[in-house]
Amino acid sequence: MNNNSNNKIVKNVLITGGAGYIGSHVTETLLKKNKKVFLVDNLSTGHKKLINKKAKFFKLDIANKHGIKKIIEKYKIDSIIHLAAHLIIGEGQKKPKKYYKNNVLGTKKLMEACKNSTVKNFIFSSTAAIYKEGQYKVSENSMIKPKSVYGKTKIKAENLIINFAKKNKINYGILRYFNIAGASPSGKIGLINKKSDHLFKNFSSEIMKKRPKLKIYGSDYKTKDGSCIRDFIHVSDIAQIHYLILEKINKLKISKILNCGYNKGISVLEVAKEFKKQSSKKVNIIFTKRRKDDLIKIIASNKKLKNFVKWRPKFDNLSKIVKSCIIWERKIR
Ligand SMILES: NC(=O)c1ccc[n+]([C@@H]2O[C@H](COP(=O)([O-])OP(=O)(O)OC[C@H]3O[C@@H](n4cnc5c(N)ncnc54)[C@H](O)[C@@H]3O)[C@@H](O)[C@H]2O)c1
Repeated sequence: MNNNSNNKIVKNVLITGGAGYIGSHVTETLLKKNKKVFLVDNLSTGHKKLINKKAKFFKLDIANKHGIKKIIEKYKIDSIIHLAAHLIIGEGQKKPKKYYKNNVLGTKKLMEACKNSTVKNFIFSSTAAIYKEGQYKVSENSMIKPKSVYGKTKIKAENLIINFAKKNKINYGILRYFNIAGASPSGKIGLINKKSDHLFKNFSSEIMKKRPKLKIYGSDYKTKDGSCIRDFIHVSDIAQIHYLILEKINKLKISKILNCGYNKGISVLEVAKEFKKQSSKKVNIIFTKRRKDDLIKIIASNKKLKNFVKWRPKFDNLSKIVKSCIIWERKIR
């Protein structure tokens, strides 16, 4: 039963993975909207530097059911945004158990902590990596067949959340992010984790070197320029989506599964060229062998998202995204 059903406003939000890249941006957005924000993070890939001082931070694992339950009770948490996960595709292939334990069992424990509590909304960060290869533009009804262990753990977690939320009368918002990039214009937060296997991060840190080499995996894919294609979305636009969806599912008391992307494909080579353009150094773009498990191209149909909320992206522009990455990278050096 939901003890807080009379309380109509989203006030107290707990963000798991709040010391991470996306979590810190969602925190910044929610604080601007005057929400009280509580962060749970075990700092496995998160950073103290990214913890917003206006939020209350708990160094805790999501699997610590009792610890989480105590926070929910004490601070009357009405909404949870669950971002904590392991997310490096290559690592997941080598360590499937680690990924299953954190992303699936961790989510299960977190859901159990919400049982008979004040929580009435639950937002989950899923991924484009759950979709079957070869579909190009995907809608939420497209075929699901994750290639990677990471993708498999995310679809399992989605199903757990749906079942649990239905039984416990919690509204859920499952957000299937496409490729997140960029850094906040506030200049205070961005991607730190060097092991992140993240294209924009790798290019940003390479561009800081004397003789930058931007490496592209695969030049012979059947795409417009031979490199892979992705739907890159700026992290501040994704953060705004969290706020809008949270308010809307709370207001309408409904649940949604939504793709989050710009509905636009950009090739890896185009990204490399933009970094080259914005650098004053002699930048080399190098093609190497394809990587195993990379999807060739995938783009979000964001029709459902746009029909559900009034979302106007502010950073839907490759040059702006790259610029924000470079400014952030300079700052953390
Ligand atoms: N970055 C992307 O392009 C992208 C794309 C699709 C989906 N996602 C999803 O978004 C979410 C956030 O990703 P991110 O890019 O901010 O990564 P991140 O590594 O910066 O953030 C994840 C955070 O979760 C924390 N964490 C991990 N396991 C935990 C646990 N058991 N208990 C408590 N804290 C834990 C980490 O310390 C870290 O701060 C993830 O769920 C990821 O799968 C990210």
